[in-house]
Amino acid sequence: MKAITIVFIAGCGLLSAGAPEGKAVFAAKCQPCHGPNGEGKAAIAKMYNVEMHLLASKEIQSKSDADFKKTITAGQGKMKPVSGLTDKQIEDVIAYVRTLK
Ligand code: HEC
Repeated sequence: MKAITIVFIAGCGLLSAGAPEGKAVFAAKCQPCHGPNGEGKAAIAKMYNVEMHLLASKEIQSKSDADFKKTITAGQGKMKPVSGLTDKQIEDVIAYVRTLK
């Protein structure tokens, strides 16, 4: 029980530490296409001829962190891999995306 509590507290600490830094990563690396709130830019959707899902939606939020990481590092559909991010920045930006819901 004690161990579970410690893991829980450590987990919360990670989330709260990562999200603000992730916000900066998001603004630099994701916002140009996904918009400030992950709503998706209409011009980008048109350009790629895709429907961009709200990153805050239940459908997207139900994906695992591993899924997000894969989308970011390997790309998904029309989205190309996002380069130039460290593992830490990827974790931070995922933590930030979690705050959008
Ligand atoms: C150059 C434009 C562009 C950038 C930059 C970009 N994305 Fe995307 N992203 C897209 C497009 C377009 C799609 C839709 C892909 C599809 O459905 O074919 C997408 C899809 C996604 C999805 C999956 C949504 C779904 O419908 O399953 C996630 C999650 C995502 N992006 C997160 C991110 C994150 C986090 C970043 C920043 C690290 C980022 N994207 C940067 C264009 C971009």
